[in-house]
Amino acid sequence: MDIRIFDTAGDVAEALARRIALALADDPATVLGLPTGQTPVATYAELRRLHAAGEADFSRASTFNIDEFAGVGASDPGSFRSFMDRHLFDAVNVRVERIHFLNGAASDLDAECDRYEAAIERAGGLDIQLLGIGANGHIGFNEPAGELVARTHRVTLTESTRRDNAALWGGDAARVPREALTMGVGTMLKAAALILIATGERKAQCVERTVHGPVTPRLPASFLQLHRHVEVYLDREAASRL
Ligand code: PGA
Repeated sequence: MDIRIFDTAGDVAEALARRIALALADDPATVLGLPTGQTPVATYAELRRLHAAGEADFSRASTFNIDEFAGVGASDPGSFRSFMDRHLFDAVNVRVERIHFLNGAASDLDAECDRYEAAIERAGGLDIQLLGIGANGHIGFNEPAGELVARTHRVTLTESTRRDNAALWGGDAARVPREALTMGVGTMLKAAALILIATGERKAQCVERTVHGPVTPRLPASFLQLHRHVEVYLDREAASRL
């Protein structure tokens, strides 16, 4: 793993946004895998700023978000799609037909997961998969478990994950959907390059286990050790146990 440590979370966002802008300059048709969560918010803000300055062009890029709540339409303000519209898509020139999302409102959710895997394949695979990490080592909605599902699949959310997502639902964990759809760890590992982002002291322990611990479904992020191109963007706090 290529570990990059920056002083502050703001420095992480700046460096990572520049990394993505350069990838887009190099290959305008880059296929990006994108996360939601608090961690990438600053990076998306920085990408919006670079785009406004004429330094990040998404006109030929494609995006595939990692996950979405089940039973939730794209226009629901609590959906991850709405989150992405607010934080990135509405303010950059990505074409709407190249924004790919799991449809949480699909009538057949298993078929929807198959459709998504096929759509990623048709796009030629993910060039760069950006990833956040949960304090428990989850990636996407792949939670610590005895075994992991490799492909895009349905998951039942844990109570702690529902609490972590309450902010999107007016602060009320009871309103957070009980199920979601997520790329599998295998879907992510097929990306040409993976970039893990973690900031803050709360992530220090899972970052240390991700980088140095055994590969185990008890820490889904540990599977990143199996990939030949992983960049890890950390601030000093998240790197404090390395
Ligand atoms: P966070 O979530 O960025 O809000 O900490 C990360 C994650 O759970 O993947």
